[in-house]
Amino acid sequence: MSKTILAIDIGSTKNCAIISEIDDIGKIKITGHGISKSQGVKKGIITNIELASKSIKKAINDAKRIAGSDISSATISISNTYAKSINSQGIVNIPHKDISLKEIERVIHTAQYNANIPSEYEIIHVLPYNFRVDDQDFIEDPYGMNASRMEVDVNIIMTQKSSLSNLKKAVRSAGVEIDSVILNGYASAIATMNDDEKELGVVVVDIGGQTSNMIIHTGNSVRYNDFLNVGSNHITNDLSMALHTPLQIAESVKLTYGDLTESSNDIIELPMIGDDKAMNQVSLDIVYAVVLARVEETLNLLAKSLDKSLLREQIGSGLILTGGMTKLKGIRELAQVIFEGMPVRIAQPNEKAVSGFFDELRDPAFSTVIGLLLYKSGKFTEYEIDIKGDLLHSKQSLADDKSEMAFENPLEKKKKSTPKKIKPKSEERMDLGDIELGETIKATKIRQREETRMREASRMRENEDAFVFERLPDDPTEQGNVLKKVANWARQLF
Ligand SMILES: Nc1ncnc2c1ncn2[C@@H]1O[C@H](COP(=O)(O)OP(=O)(O)OP(=O)(O)O)[C@@H](O)[C@H]1O
Ligand SMILES: [Mg+2]
Repeated sequence: MSKTILAIDIGSTKNCAIISEIDDIGKIKITGHGISKSQGVKKGIITNIELASKSIKKAINDAKRIAGSDISSATISISNTYAKSINSQGIVNIPHKDISLKEIERVIHTAQYNANIPSEYEIIHVLPYNFRVDDQDFIEDPYGMNASRMEVDVNIIMTQKSSLSNLKKAVRSAGVEIDSVILNGYASAIATMNDDEKELGVVVVDIGGQTSNMIIHTGNSVRYNDFLNVGSNHITNDLSMALHTPLQIAESVKLTYGDLTESSNDIIELPMIGDDKAMNQVSLDIVYAVVLARVEETLNLLAKSLDKSLLREQIGSGLILTGGMTKLKGIRELAQVIFEGMPVRIAQPNEKAVSGFFDELRDPAFSTVIGLLLYKSGKFTEYEIDIKGDLLHSKQSLADDKSEMAFENPLEKKKKSTPKKIKPKSEERMDLGDIELGETIKATKIRQREETRMREASRMRENEDAFVFERLPDDPTEQGNVLKKVANWARQLF
């Protein structure tokens, strides 16, 4: 059964709402979209809830009208502004020696509890990047393995509670509840990285109107995120000041003449600030110098942030630039120089898994919103604890995991706290194309068969253990245990 998703990217210059249907295998079909000029948002944070809510509502209503469907909850992006990330570790014993989703969830939660989260911050993503099983390091996926101990290293991404709650208020006043919240840079990375880049390690930078959001993805997980409150609007401001021309004119000079590949001596005439009739003659050399200075500075700061991450050595594939500012001619070549020869590509959102893509979306400015849709369809790291504390995963054999619980002592089970909801995302897998999907299904089926066989054997062992009456202790404190009472009664009988 397909489900309807509403994704909203609340940017500093535009809001974009997209409604889509996600079918059982995770294929996304866009059915409606709305784009509105952003208001009440500065440098990634809400500065006026009423204005922000009005402009978000406009985008939502346009999307609803086109899709012809009503939807009451949304997946939204939150800027990397005020986002922080810390690393933490977790360790758990595996009494039954069999690692299922329950144990994976337990170890990630343990790492989360071990972390020192400042009280004014709220966790939005807990992303495991390394598992150790019985001291064996760099386990790609511990699921289904036999071990007595499992450890995990996680990257915890959190955001300031106040900025998150203002964002939530603005969206709620626009008439929709919040279903999920995803870090802006993470969403843009999901929309632009390909599998090889994920595997080899990649830096993704989304440079928009007022912000630059950086993510470093290595070892199949997000390891680092950073933020600069600089974007393309700063080029516009610089041009407006340098050329003494109104902001609107400066914006169109940037879009028409902004080009880092060559400078020219041509002269253009521009209206002056405060006097539309007076014209000013400006050489394109000056436009070139102003744009270059700002872009160079921005890229230099981003390169410094990459150094600060200490992850440069782990980046095997290079730098992906996305976001509206990366449409500036020549930015790729300049970035390549500033990032010391690192391969750089300008990316627009990947449309492989999405149908109903319209021309307007084939643009780096829409990477974040498409990333939100892909996130909801299961296109992210193998395991993650989301903002609601739920384990998101890409495993298919959840039923096996659940059936294991049926073999637990029901009284013991009752004593335990209610297990956290685990979200199956099996039906939400991406369509990988015929060949890949065929291979994946084959591999998964073989693995599932093997896992089921192992579980059956372990269950039989457990069952045998459970009914050897002689092994049950005659401890008087156990008298309250109904199972033991029945066992004692049976032992006396036979
Ligand atoms: N060719 C271009 N050269 C330079 N800048 C450009 C070009 N085309 C668009 N832009 C700029 O891109 C910006 C919009 O990008 P985008 O839509 O990614 O921003 P946003 O998501 O609203 O903002 P943010 O991510 O900072 O919150 C605008 O400032 C616009 O002027
Ligand atoms: Mg943006």
